[in-house]
Amino acid sequence: MPYSKLTRLAFAIVLFIMASSCTELANESLRGTIAANGMVSTAHPEATKIGVAILKQGGNAYDAAIAVQFALAVAYPNAGNIGGGGFLVYRKSTGEIGSLDFREKAPLSAHKDMYLDQDGEVIENLSTRGHLAVGVPGSVDGMTKIHQELGSMPFSELVEPAIQLALNGVVLTDREATKFNGQRKNFIETNSHTPYLVSNTPWAKGDTIFHKDLAATLMRIRDHGRAGFYEGTTAQLIVDEMMRGGGIITKEDLDLYQSVWREPMTSSYKSYRIIGMPPPSSGGVAVMQLLKGIESYDIGTWGFNSTRTIHIMTELERRVYADRATYLGDPDHYQIPADKLISDIYLKQRFSDIDPLVKTFSQSIKTGSVNFIESIETTHFSIVDVNGNAAAITTTLNGSYGSKVMVKTGGFFLNNEMDDFSVKSGVPNMFGLVGDKANAIAPQKRMLSSMSPTIIDKNDSLFMVVGTPGGSTIITSVFQTILNVIEHGMTMQEAVNAKKLHHQWLPDHILYELNALDSITYSELEQMGHVLKQRDGIGRMNAILVLDDGLLEGAADYTRGDDIALGY
Ligand code: DON
Repeated sequence: MPYSKLTRLAFAIVLFIMASSCTELANESLRGTIAANGMVSTAHPEATKIGVAILKQGGNAYDAAIAVQFALAVAYPNAGNIGGGGFLVYRKSTGEIGSLDFREKAPLSAHKDMYLDQDGEVIENLSTRGHLAVGVPGSVDGMTKIHQELGSMPFSELVEPAIQLALNGVVLTDREATKFNGQRKNFIETNSHTPYLVSNTPWAKGDTIFHKDLAATLMRIRDHGRAGFYEGTTAQLIVDEMMRGGGIITKEDLDLYQSVWREPMTSSYKSYRIIGMPPPSSGGVAVMQLLKGIESYDIGTWGFNSTRTIHIMTELERRVYADRATYLGDPDHYQIPADKLISDIYLKQRFSDIDPLVKTFSQSIKTGSVNFIESIETTHFSIVDVNGNAAAITTTLNGSYGSKVMVKTGGFFLNNEMDDFSVKSGVPNMFGLVGDKANAIAPQKRMLSSMSPTIIDKNDSLFMVVGTPGGSTIITSVFQTILNVIEHGMTMQEAVNAKKLHHQWLPDHILYELNALDSITYSELEQMGHVLKQRDGIGRMNAILVLDDGLLEGAADYTRGDDIALGY
């Protein structure tokens, strides 16, 4: 055989081997972390490691959740927090379910028009940046309530790992260094002191940040629990910070703050039970409306991100977000028809005008006009322990580093959650979401949220724990991730990695991630009347799936973030 022929044959064989191994890879499902005894999935490796260490010491899922919340406040300060708030949805191994609302509240002297000028126009940035944007924080009260009700280890032992992390320093990832550098100007402009996170030379991957002031605050929390934050030195530091920057949170506000146990929302999707967060989150209601709405369509057969699937999801989403804007807010201040909104009778009628072939114009559902500003950071973590207790927590400062206000010598950022209120009827917030009376500002009221910590069970057994950051895209990301597993047969990790889309009624366009659609689907959707816009990073899920053999699959979004799931 001539040499050239031999070479060509060898080349062909190599190609054949490569092609067959690629096919094999393509067919092989991508699993997340598999473990038998417990699983923790969070946005930061240090927080995940601390959560697993608590589980290994014999702590339950709620002990681990408390330790993770404090660890994220150190290692992931753009969203992890003690100066913000959040929601817990839990399901114990006994089947008992519950939820804790540790969402921030409007200060006592907040009022409906506090972000409007004399002409009634919204003053730019007032609800998003600086001291006036801050809601009364709920996270520390939340952690102490979770501990009292569900914890098993001493509280101090759950705060201690975060203190050690703060003292020993956190090594920056590339992403985090970029984030700090990107906010440098904002940190300086917003604060009357220079936060210790402002460095003269840009931060780089591998640099270590020591959080000395934050460690001291955490020690007060470790030693005095709730009082270590809402009373004494920390409370004084917060009030001093407010006075310096023109904020309105007082000692009385801090004194009055209480997180609230609420009955979780429950609904079904086929043979699965969905357990979600009730108002003041819109997450439970909206995810349940979407799942109920899609139940009667055969999307499993239509396929993942096919034209028909995307069209129906979009039509459901525009109606659900219109309901959100009109009906949802703080149930302690406004009558919220949450149960009616997820009832079969209501939803049948609500979705009855969906045309399977033609898009509905959002303006014909309800009027409004919005723009969409991206500046998003929240964080979700999912935990399951050896006994099958499950915790889903989504927690936030709202924007990245919240209001950008760092409490001087307290070492922690304060949220800008006030922007989640409807600061003026029909005027969009930073996620482009609009609202009305149900979500208007009032003293001591909680702002509406999209955070959707969700637990699913099947035949009375735990099936999935799931949630994500992403502002208004939280609801649709949770919706798609659940369907990816149940309808499209994906593993938990594949469902997390899968490219996502989003529609929120207004603005009337579908956001899609790069490679979410092929060109044929894209043009078919356009022919149906849809407007499509590309956006990066929809969803950054942290989820756990209980496999048929009882093992846990932990999935974390290592494609969109530095997230990691670990188990043992
Ligand atoms: O509660 C809410 O819906 C928002 N404050 C969440 C903000 C958020 O997810 C930002 N992150 N990615």
